Amino acid sequence: MSDAKAFPLNAWYAAAWDHEIGRALTPRRICDKDVVLYRRTDGAVAALEDACWHRLLPLSLGHLKGDQVMCGYHGLVFDAAGRCTFMPAQETINPSACVRAFPAVERHRLIWLWMGDPALADPDLVPDFHWNSDAPWVGEGGTFYSLKCDYRLVIDNLMDLTHETYVHAGSIGDDAITRSPFEVTHTDRCVTVERWMENIEPPPFWARNLGKPGHHVDRWQIIRFEAPTVVAGDVGVAVAGTGARQGDRSQGVNGFFLAAITPETATSCHYFWNFVRNFRTDDAELTKSLNRAHVNDGKGVYDQDHDVLEAQQRAIDRQPRQPFYNLNIDAGALWARRLIDGMLAKETPGETKPAETKPVGLAAE
Ligand code: FES
Ligand SMILES: [Fe+2]
Repeated sequence: MSDAKAFPLNAWYAAAWDHEIGRALTPRRICDKDVVLYRRTDGAVAALEDACWHRLLPLSLGHLKGDQVMCGYHGLVFDAAGRCTFMPAQETINPSACVRAFPAVERHRLIWLWMGDPALADPDLVPDFHWNSDAPWVGEGGTFYSLKCDYRLVIDNLMDLTHETYVHAGSIGDDAITRSPFEVTHTDRCVTVERWMENIEPPPFWARNLGKPGHHVDRWQIIRFEAPTVVAGDVGVAVAGTGARQGDRSQGVNGFFLAAITPETATSCHYFWNFVRNFRTDDAELTKSLNRAHVNDGKGVYDQDHDVLEAQQRAIDRQPRQPFYNLNIDAGALWARRLIDGMLAKETPGETKPAETKPVGLAAE
């Protein structure tokens, strides 16, 4: 799909984990733009277009001089706002000698960049990702950089967890998911898919973490999408009939899967993920093993998604005009795409209603 309008620009996108950005010049492609990230001496993050004004050499190949970047080709220097402050062998600096600077906010262990109109970059609009940083939630997390699929395929994947039954059989998937009804609600910014599976055998992953052999459980999946690209899934199990659905989760174990998906190009993305929990939070070995359960040299749960998503994109690339057809299970993903399309339409002059960015068949809602 070579769709020029694949992603809205007026949005905050996760660009890096906070610990990845220091005093090295770090290049990253975000929304089809090359960006270089670094930390100023006061600790704040700067993000500049990664192309020198002079001859386009990536600034990330240069080096830092204090808070400024010196191009590694002919020595032009740019400050953190993108203004040129030095040109070799000339006194007067051309005032138009600028590179673009992107608003950056550090929040919830991630660096978020605003890729659109800087005048609209309101830090209050950074998506809610607080589970990634705040007590009682504990997790390590990781990233699939340059995952070779349209970021919306990842959102589809997370908004419909019936795929667990087929992609993740043997760990978190079982037939109870496909048998259980679910409810989809939305606002103008969020979509929620809620599913309860009551009085079931826990799947192996949750049986292990609950540690109460022989008990049936009530299992929940409450998935919240915040447009355009953040998903937080409240998931867990409690001993059956102990009131989890009514709000008492004291006899259960609870986690959140967290996903901030950032378009790299129209057909690739960076997928920042974490799985956080509120049980056995001091157990560092459990933190490591839960991370490994998700990504582990091709054998983790998310590795399975990774392979499906890239294979799906390859198939789409071979048949770009072939529409998607929708089932009931796609209702959450369809609403998510609708919100994204609404954001895209707002950024398109003269567009009054959302434009579908991928042809779809009949919507089942
Ligand atoms: S390309 Fe950067 S100074 Fe010439
Ligand atoms: Fe999955």
